[in-house]
Amino acid sequence: MELFSLSGKVVVITGAAGLLGRNHVLAVVAAGGIPVLIDIDKHRLQVVADEVAKTYGETVKMFVVDITNEAQVKSCCESVIKNFGHVDGLVNNAANNPKIESAEINEQSRLENFSLLNWDADISVGLTGAFLCTKYFGAAIASQGGSIVNISSDLGVIAPDQRIYQQPGVAESQQPVKSVTYSVVKTGLIGLSRYTATYWAKQGVRCNALCPGGVENLQDPSFVSKLSSLIPLSRMAHQDEYQGSVIFLLSDASSYMTGSVLIVDGGRTAW
Ligand SMILES: NC(=O)c1ccc[n+]([C@@H]2O[C@H](COP(=O)([O-])OP(=O)(O)OC[C@H]3O[C@@H](n4cnc5c(N)ncnc54)[C@H](O)[C@@H]3O)[C@@H](O)[C@H]2O)c1
Repeated sequence: MELFSLSGKVVVITGAAGLLGRNHVLAVVAAGGIPVLIDIDKHRLQVVADEVAKTYGETVKMFVVDITNEAQVKSCCESVIKNFGHVDGLVNNAANNPKIESAEINEQSRLENFSLLNWDADISVGLTGAFLCTKYFGAAIASQGGSIVNISSDLGVIAPDQRIYQQPGVAESQQPVKSVTYSVVKTGLIGLSRYTATYWAKQGVRCNALCPGGVENLQDPSFVSKLSSLIPLSRMAHQDEYQGSVIFLLSDASSYMTGSVLIVDGGRTAW
């Protein structure tokens, strides 16, 4: 288990208040690491920080930060270094991730209707935010080595199958779709991973992309069934099923892995 240990390692996790962010935090703590939680949502961040502190009896450091704001990311990084003296890991996890059942996914999601406002907002969180966190926390990691994990998606390597988002009785021109920005952001993160991996290789920084498949989380049963039929394991993921991959990528267990793409998707991209 020593190989998978994150003992004493300070790991920054963005989007820590979200569904998967919370699980990345729990994974870091389970492997003996020290998580630093970042999110823009103060209330939900506090809930996760309290839960982690209660379950594991660890001191949990949290920062309410908008990762699209360079001054905030810079100042947060300075505080983390002041507090712990070093940063060993970064999980670029935050993204705009509109839920399939939400009203946000309607005909405005279609490419022909997709607003520049939404494009800018999604690119800003998913790519600019990951760039800014890499710029500051990555530079801190580069001073002694460590690991960066960029959370991409199965949709970083394949196109969305828009048929699974279709609503009955809705005209084709008004059918909701998975947004163009989701594909662009998730593919871009793979590029950022390769760039960072080679840029800081000599400094002992490894950087990889993790591509999770869809997580079941109270979605419409017909959507779950349609997506499951595209997956060889015949189901969506449980929310804790990426914890092993996150520990693997952050720890010495993956010491010879960098610039790579780890796809954990129940086999969806094998078909
Ligand atoms: N849930 C899935 O099925 C799934 C599948 C594949 C990949 N992913 C990816 O995993 C990551 C996490 O997904 P999730 O389902 O937990 O999403 P989520 O929406 O539950 O969590 C995202 C978090 O990011 C935070 N955030 C948004 N904008 C921010 C900003 N400007 N600054 C700081 N924090 C900000 C949100 O407040 C939220 O807590 C995303 O990158 C997503 O694309 C998710």
